[in-house]
Amino acid sequence: MEALSNAGNREIFIKTTFENMATSKGNGESELKELFVDELKDIYWAEKHLTKALTKMAKSATSDELQTAFEKHLTETENHVARLEQVFEVVGEKASAKKCDAMAGLIEEAEGLIEDTKEGTLTRDVALISAAQKVEHYEIASYGTLKTLAGVLGYPKAAQLLEATLAEEKKTDSLLTEIAEGSINESAKAE
Ligand SMILES: [Fe+2]
Repeated sequence: MEALSNAGNREIFIKTTFENMATSKGNGESELKELFVDELKDIYWAEKHLTKALTKMAKSATSDELQTAFEKHLTETENHVARLEQVFEVVGEKASAKKCDAMAGLIEEAEGLIEDTKEGTLTRDVALISAAQKVEHYEIASYGTLKTLAGVLGYPKAAQLLEATLAEEKKTDSLLTEIAEGSINESAKAE
């Protein structure tokens, strides 16, 4: 009899434990989704404001090579905005932007660098590349996290969209390094 009663208790204990796990999994998942959507709103704001900043950066660049790189990334950025709208749709949320203080600061810094450097100099291009790479690194970190979270939350289509943007941000970062190291840094030193 005692053995049976122990078995019964154990069954109750296991059932309760599983129920607790299920409940906590439920809460954890919704909190993680909330965090994911918050981060999405943050990068959505950042990308939208970047389109304006990149237009200004392209106009301010001295070398044709850098100007072309910024113009290309501007087109890509417009596409990043559209991709984020698709991600919002895939996860069943309304697309909305939330001010990203970090990106606002990085854009402000870029504008300051334009003011502090002379027009038509390669020193200005060095400054613009530096500012743009800080932006890219912020985006690479954000999209890396978002892509991983999309996978964890069970949104493979969203993860795929975020990965496509992440790849373009990484490529832009490499291109900017190439441009800087190719000739701009050395030529700026000779100015
Ligand atoms: Fe982007």
